[in-house]
Amino acid sequence: MKRICVIILLLLLLVPAVSAADLPRWGPYITSADEDTVTIHYYLYENASGAVELAFRGNTTVFSSEPGGFHHIRIEDLMPDTEYSYRILVNDSWSETYSFRTLGAENYMFVVSGDTRSEPPFTQAERHGVVAESILNENPLFVVHLGDFSGDADDPAEWDRFFSAGRNLYANTIIVPVQGNHDYAKLYTEIFGMPDWYAFTAGSLKFLVLNTNGWTQIRFANQTAWLGEETQSPKPKIALFHHPFYTTDQKRTGLTTDQIPVWQEIFENGGVAAAYSAHMHAYERYESGGIAYVTNGAGGAPLYSPVTEPADEMVNSIYHTLGYVRVDVNGSEFTSTFFSVAEVSEDNSVLTTVFPKGTAYDVFSTTDPVSSPLGPGIIFGILSGAVFFIRRKR
Ligand SMILES: [Fe+2]
Repeated sequence: MKRICVIILLLLLLVPAVSAADLPRWGPYITSADEDTVTIHYYLYENASGAVELAFRGNTTVFSSEPGGFHHIRIEDLMPDTEYSYRILVNDSWSETYSFRTLGAENYMFVVSGDTRSEPPFTQAERHGVVAESILNENPLFVVHLGDFSGDADDPAEWDRFFSAGRNLYANTIIVPVQGNHDYAKLYTEIFGMPDWYAFTAGSLKFLVLNTNGWTQIRFANQTAWLGEETQSPKPKIALFHHPFYTTDQKRTGLTTDQIPVWQEIFENGGVAAAYSAHMHAYERYESGGIAYVTNGAGGAPLYSPVTEPADEMVNSIYHTLGYVRVDVNGSEFTSTFFSVAEVSEDNSVLTTVFPKGTAYDVFSTTDPVSSPLGPGIIFGILSGAVFFIRRKR
């Protein structure tokens, strides 16, 4: 027995240990702007060297990078709607193999999440990590993060915790970042390298990523003019921004009460079918002017209870429940479902219930909103909202 133990010990000594220095400090994570381009990002510890190896149908291409710091490896001329695998070389150690799929499919699925910051006594791993693991199991084409990635975007240690909690998810899907009020720092821009507001197309849907933070209000006219131009396209659209227009905590709105109707009019005339926001740490769904306004700030941050009575436009809501929204796209139509992951105690200290995989709480579908803004999809949504158990803790 003693001899067996010695042999096992010797074998263990022969297996090179993967130290923290052999992993990127942050990432890898992927962004994409179109069907044939992705950017693979990672941040290396000081003096560490790195490279990306992209594999497709047995052919591999290596993209090397300078030691240390940020790396944003832009890969072009990819095929649309195609799965690629890749791995990262850090110093002399290869990572496991990750994969992503390029945009371009007409039928696909994406996830909407947001508000993943931690707050003592709980960590990102204990909350955001639990939600990220559930999202990973869905294998979405991309994940929209609606903002407030961490509590202080200026603190690298906060980003350590964010990327550690969601490492497997963000290495294996495309992330669509939306800037929240906690993401104020230059470091946020360095990490994602995205403009303050931007648009992209996936299949028959156009996505409008807007910025409702106070520091952009001086450029509200510019952003509104851009929004007006982007909504000229006949494609159905989905708007993504951090601060909700409708909420049971009015202190948490972003745009002013004068500004919100300006964008709502553009949405209604410009084929926006749904708008997704976060900031209020709960799930709420409203319907106004033929548009579904969905709040999902239940990605891991401390959960909130409603402060005010819900507006007449409210269809459904759930509080103190971590979860994510899955959107199944079929051409220009889509179905949006909130999945509950775990119930959290009123004081946010513990998870009281972890729900089985696939626990759907709220669902709505919409047909092409351009031709039928009040079509059967919205009616189905209202009916489904009525039959689902609505629980509001106050
Ligand atoms: Fe926020």
